[in-house]
Amino acid sequence: MAKINCIGILTSGGDAPGMNAAIRAVTRAAIANGFRVMAIYRGYEGLINDEIVEFTTENVSNIIQRGGTILKTARSREFETVEGRQKAYENMQKRGIDALVVIGGNGSLTGARIFAQEHDVPCIGLPGTIDNDLNGTDLTIGYDTTLNTIMECVDKIRDTATSHERIFFVEVMGRDAGFLAQNSALASGAECAIIPEDSTGADQLEQFIGRGIRKSKSSSIVIVSESPKCGAMYYAERVKQEYPEYDVRVSILGHLQRGGRPSACDRILASRLGVGAINAILEGQRNVMIGIRNDEVVYVPFTNAVKSNKELKKELINNLDVLSI
Ligand code: F6P
Repeated sequence: MAKINCIGILTSGGDAPGMNAAIRAVTRAAIANGFRVMAIYRGYEGLINDEIVEFTTENVSNIIQRGGTILKTARSREFETVEGRQKAYENMQKRGIDALVVIGGNGSLTGARIFAQEHDVPCIGLPGTIDNDLNGTDLTIGYDTTLNTIMECVDKIRDTATSHERIFFVEVMGRDAGFLAQNSALASGAECAIIPEDSTGADQLEQFIGRGIRKSKSSSIVIVSESPKCGAMYYAERVKQEYPEYDVRVSILGHLQRGGRPSACDRILASRLGVGAINAILEGQRNVMIGIRNDEVVYVPFTNAVKSNKELKKELINNLDVLSI
């Protein structure tokens, strides 16, 4: 295996709180171990367009507490093409970059897997996404902060929901995964979570209604996972049509969920995984995502990390049902 002297780092896909802490950790751990670090701006787009500068430890000073990503990010269509990846490879060679650390979610790590295979480039992934939908890791960078953000928003919505005795449908992000919806519902004491993982085939709204909303409560909060067809608006409209006696409102939290200062949990996770990425390179690992399982840093092959449908514990669904009576 060719000796690695210089490591490129980029953030890709949706930004997530804690990405800056990860950039800092990778940069400092790399420099501490004698590597040079090349920062690539705007994700794979920046690799294709040669937006690359060398980083010193000072470049990552005072960023651990900041949300977003100082490297900017993008969802690159061009990198999905053979020609785009060829350009990216040529720029890596021109810049003397021997290995790549990619911080991102499912799409970004899928891109890294294909790139690594096609050009025989060592790639290491860090799970950076608020969705928590990567396999092989208990947590992804950004998930905890977003969960807390949603919880704080729902706490506020609860005040007005209770005062007006309304049912609120609160839509949260997560793409195809219900981790944010299910766990924010548990954390905020919501009455119901409507999530894509509920595979019973039952109508989740009917189940909620069937449990007897308002028997003992004057208001309800239903957290709904985003979905192009069946988001919060869809369920709210249904209730309005089928149960006109209820006063219904919708709140779509949107991109505020991705912003803000990362929680301690995300900063620590990002720091551990960032150092883990450099350790993996020193150990000759390639094409793995660095994850956390049972509080241990683990290496997860890209193919396992990005396979679809990370399991959401049934216990969480049962708990919410029990606690929302
Ligand atoms: O993957 C992170 C995420 O925030 C998803 O939860 C959401 O579906 C998507 O990105 C939104 O993407 P964009 O910022 O491009 O609208």
